[in-house]
Amino acid sequence: MNSEQVDRVTIRPLRNRETAVVQAVFDHLGARSRHLRFGDAKNVLTASELEQLARVDGDHHMLVAVFDGGPIGIACLVRDGVSAEVAVEVADEWQGRRVGTILMERLAADARAAGIEYLHAHVAAHNAASRALMRRSAVRISLA
Ligand SMILES: CC(C)(COP(=O)(O)OP(=O)(O)OC[C@H]1O[C@@H](n2cnc3c(N)ncnc32)[C@H](O)[C@@H]1OP(=O)(O)O)[C@@H](O)C(=O)NCCC(=O)NCCS
Repeated sequence: MNSEQVDRVTIRPLRNRETAVVQAVFDHLGARSRHLRFGDAKNVLTASELEQLARVDGDHHMLVAVFDGGPIGIACLVRDGVSAEVAVEVADEWQGRRVGTILMERLAADARAAGIEYLHAHVAAHNAASRALMRRSAVRISLA
């Protein structure tokens, strides 16, 4: 997709190795959000984790939501043939304001345009917000 404006939030593709963007969103996730997104109790991203998370190539695609120059959310997919695993995170202070929904809608549209037929995600059973969001974007959920 090209860059798109929704209200005052811009959604744009992440460029390869924009590690500062990934770090900025991570810095605005509280402990619960980090746990829901990354599984373990994660307080820091190592340089190699950042590099991996900010990787964009034929199989790795990411969208970032930006408000007033600052990144506030990220949605990513890793492609494997006609399917892809997706994940999404929104800065704590922005959660519940539909940023996640917009990111996932656009990511799912990009996936369809690229010929991806199935999306799936690992989501904690108690993560009601993510389950609602994924279901609406037709993402198959495996309970983590
Ligand atoms: C999951 C997450 C991405 C959702 O993004 P968001 O911008 O807060 O979500 P939205 O405002 O677009 O709302 C999405 C849905 O979740 C619901 N929701 C939002 N916050 C909720 C909460 N705390 N409890 C239950 N449902 C909630 C909304 O009502 C909405 O459902 P609806 O459209 O049926 O009403 C965000 O909460 C987040 O980053 N969480 C931490 C990381 C995470 O869990 N990632 C997912 C694992 S891959």
